[in-house]
This record gives sequence, C-alpha cells and structure tokens, in this order.
Amino acid sequence: MSFPDKQLEDFISKLSNILDGRDIITDQEIIYPHLQDWVGNFHGNSPLMLTPRSSEQVSKILKMCNEKNIKIVPQGGNTGSVASGIPNGEVILSLKKMNKILDLNPKDYTITVEAGCILNQIQLAASEVSRHFPLSIGSEGSCTIGGNISTNAGGISVLKYGNMRDLVLGIEVVLANGNIVNMLKKLRKDNTGYALKHLFMGAEGTLGIITAASLRLFPKIENKVTAFVSLTDLTTSMNLLEILRDFSGELLSSFELIPDIGLSIAIEFGDNIINPLVNAEQWNVIIEFSDTKNNENAKNLMEAALQHALEENVITDAVISDSIAKTQNIWKIRKAIVEHQPKLGGEIKHDVSVPISSVPDFIRTTGDKLAQYLPGVRPVPYGHIGDGNIHYNVCPPIGYSSEAFKEKTKEIREIVYGNAFTYGGSFAAEHGVGIIKKSQMIKYKDPTELTIMKEIKNLLDPKEILNPGKIF
Ligand code: FAD
Ligand code: LAC
Ligand code: ZN
Repeated sequence: MSFPDKQLEDFISKLSNILDGRDIITDQEIIYPHLQDWVGNFHGNSPLMLTPRSSEQVSKILKMCNEKNIKIVPQGGNTGSVASGIPNGEVILSLKKMNKILDLNPKDYTITVEAGCILNQIQLAASEVSRHFPLSIGSEGSCTIGGNISTNAGGISVLKYGNMRDLVLGIEVVLANGNIVNMLKKLRKDNTGYALKHLFMGAEGTLGIITAASLRLFPKIENKVTAFVSLTDLTTSMNLLEILRDFSGELLSSFELIPDIGLSIAIEFGDNIINPLVNAEQWNVIIEFSDTKNNENAKNLMEAALQHALEENVITDAVISDSIAKTQNIWKIRKAIVEHQPKLGGEIKHDVSVPISSVPDFIRTTGDKLAQYLPGVRPVPYGHIGDGNIHYNVCPPIGYSSEAFKEKTKEIREIVYGNAFTYGGSFAAEHGVGIIKKSQMIKYKDPTELTIMKEIKNLLDPKEILNPGKIF
C-alpha cells in the first residue's frame, strides 16, 4: 500500500486531536522492530505507528481511518509465527500501551484486562490472589493477551485447559467503523443468540480490534511434577498418554514430544543443557502433572503410572525431576529446539494437527514421504502431541545447501500439509494463517466455509481497512 506524503501529513495532523504526540510515531528507528517477524520470513514497512491508551482513542482512530480509507495492522507483542502482524505499508496500531488490569476477582475466578497486557503479567497477577491463568507459551514474556486471543494461542497446557478461546469469557472490540462493542460480561452461561465474541478470536485482527478481555481463572497450582521419558516406539506414545490419564485424571497438563534429533540440537547448541536420560531413545516425551495440592500425591501418581508403563513395555526409561534445576533443564530442552533448530542448515516450519490417535502414524508416513522426495532430509517433529498438535519442522540433509533447501519449500509444505489433510487434520493448528498459509486456505478449506468467512469480513469491514492481505 502506498501512502502519499500529503495524505500522511493530513492524517497525522488530524490524529493530534485524538492522541498525545508521544503516541504518533514516525521515527523509523522506533518502528523498525515492528516490521520484522521473529521467524525472519518477512520484513514489512510502515510510515506510522500509533500507540493509543484507551478504547475511545482506538474508536476515534478507526472511525477516521474508515472514512479516509486508511489501512491498519493491529499489533501486540509481535511474536506471531505467521507474519499476520507485519505491515505492508499500512499504519501499525500497537496495543502495548493499553496494559492495565481492570478487574481481578478471585471469588468469581475472573480477571479483566486491557488487550496490551503481557501474558506473563496476567499469570503473575492471578498467582498473587491464589489463582491460575493457564495459557503457557514460549513467548509469554512478550506476547499480549490481545494477540493471544486474535491467534487463539495454544501452547503446552491445552490438553488440561483448552486453547485461548476456552479461557475467554468476554471481550471488548472496536469495529472498523469505530463502533465499540462491549461483550465484556464475566458470565459462564449466557445463551443470548449468536456468540459473536468467538468471531474475533483467531481472526488475526481482520474483523476488529480487541481492546479488553475478561478471562477465566483456575485454582492456583501448588505442585508440578515433571518427567522426561523414553518411548519404546512412537506408537506407544498413545498408550502412555492413556496410562497417564488413567492414573492421574485431571493432573496431566503437558505431554510434549521430543525426538532424538531435537534432544541433540538442544545439547549441542543450548545453554548448558544436560541429557536427562543417558540412554534416551529416538522418541521421548516431557510429561507434567499440575496439582492444586502441595503434597506427594502427584509424584506418587507419576511414579505409579511410569512404573506401569515400564512393565507394559510402553516406555524404556524415565526420570522424574527432583529439583528445580532438573525441571528447568528438561524444559530448556523444549525451548532450545525452537531456538536452535535453524542451525541445522535451515528449517521449514509447519504447525499442523491431526486427531490425537493419528499422531504416530502421521509422523511416520510424513517422514516416509519426505525421505522419498529428498533422501537424507531431517524431520524434527516435536511439541504438543497430547492435543494432536505437531510442529513438524524439516531440516535439510547433512551438507545440503540451505539455499537449495529453501527452494524446495513449496514441495515440502505440500507433503506435510497434504498428509495432515488425509488424516482429517489441519494445516494451521495454533499459529494461524497470516500471510504464509493463504494458499493453503484456498486448497484445503471447504469453499462454502471460505465464502461465509469472506461475507463476514465484508459485513464487518467493507472497506478492508483492517489487516488487509491476511488470511485470505
Ligand atoms: P502479534 O504477533 O502482535 O499479533 C498476532 C496477530 O494478532 C496479528 O494478526 C495481529 O494483527 C493480531 N492482533 C494483535 N493484537 C490484536 C488486538 N488487540 N486486536 C486484534 N488483533 C490483534 N503460539 C502458540 O499458539 N503456542 C505456542 O506454544 C507458541 N510458542 C511460541 C514460542 C516462541 C518462542 C514464540 C516467539 C512464539 C510462540 N507462539 C506460540 C506464537 C505467538 O507467541 C502467539 O501467536 C501469540 O499469541 C501472539 O501474540 P502477540 O501479542 O505477539 O501478537
Ligand atoms: C512452540 C511454538 C513454536 O510450541 O509454538 O514452541
Ligand atoms: Zn507450539
């Protein structure tokens, strides 16, 4: 999108009736970090960033943008994985200065916050009143709740608490025409027609700007027990999941796959990471139980479940952490895979999901298909398999040029997404569509569903001023 200087000047002068001068930013040095996604795939551009401090200001900005046909890209922490918050010449609307906690009610088990609150800030506020806000993702120190809701974020506790969508009671949204829709009710039951709030969750900023949210809280977690376990085989991961559920019921909060190649990446490139099991196998999992009681119960149940899994030949070895340092070491493995995997000569990332029971078969057959296409290719499938979500990242064969590998992106993506589709899976599990998966929307989404989505977009944002060029 081009922005003629005269139009920009005129717009900025009118904005000064709405915003403080500090919140109208044209300095490209300040704007620069907002133009690049962390994955490093996209570098955008924008002449202007606005940092409103209230819903009323957002409303006035949008009203003016709609009248003047000026396009906007909302942004929270800019940690999104599909470049959906990266501008292509549009104005950036950063919600980061709207970061107040508006209400915290331990009796109702609710917290109401402005959209720019950092996820970690919300977790800490809940914890201070003996409550738990369970969304847990690697970027929690910098992502915002507005971004979490707009991407319907997932993470490592979904199998116990659900996705972001399941944690939202209400939201406040500013529409493209500037109207403020207050759906901030803190109710768990409210069957009054269409649940419009759900339209804006996972919409990646294309239907409205989320300015505040009421969220569900849970009893505080007093005790976590973490284990690192080697599987007899990938297929036995599902037997293990069943055993853990049978033994622990609701305590199971994380079940994360760590392949041996991921473990090697973590040990080679990570910061002082120790292999938790000397004889780790090809497939391993991190397991976490979360208990509201601070007693031996969770540990005893973990021991009993893993003992049973050993006897049933489902696992070959296991270690239950008995110190904070060992627990941190286990989770550092998980984080290091994300950070250091590109060091294997490049990577092609995929965030897919299949029905939980299909996970082992999907991983195996995708690996076979990739190896047929490019012998020696190194898949690194890891992550949240307890809820059916696999980060099926792919690295080049040893010694292969990363440039030549990059050129195979389209074909490799089609193998992974195509195979997920045959299992009834999704090409976008928890990160969204953004810019990078637009062609998959056309290929894999039901055409009628896509048409309805476009009609909704047209109804709420007929001039397409909100995050143009994303999702569709
Ligand atoms: P941004 O990146 O700023 O924006 C994301 C999208 O939301 C954009 O389309 C933007 O336009 C829109 N948006 C932002 N704020 C608003 C608003 N207030 N109103 C309307 N639209 C808005 N994601 C997971 O799901 N699970 C994980 O486990 C996970 N782990 C991660 C680990 C790391 C190390 C990193 C860097 C990222 C990870 N992510 C994960 C991805 C990312 O953190 C999430 O998608 C997060 O929800 C994005 O929040 P954000 O505030 O950074 O949003
Ligand atoms: C993770 C991100 C990449 O799970 O979603 O690490
Ligand atoms: Zn993830």
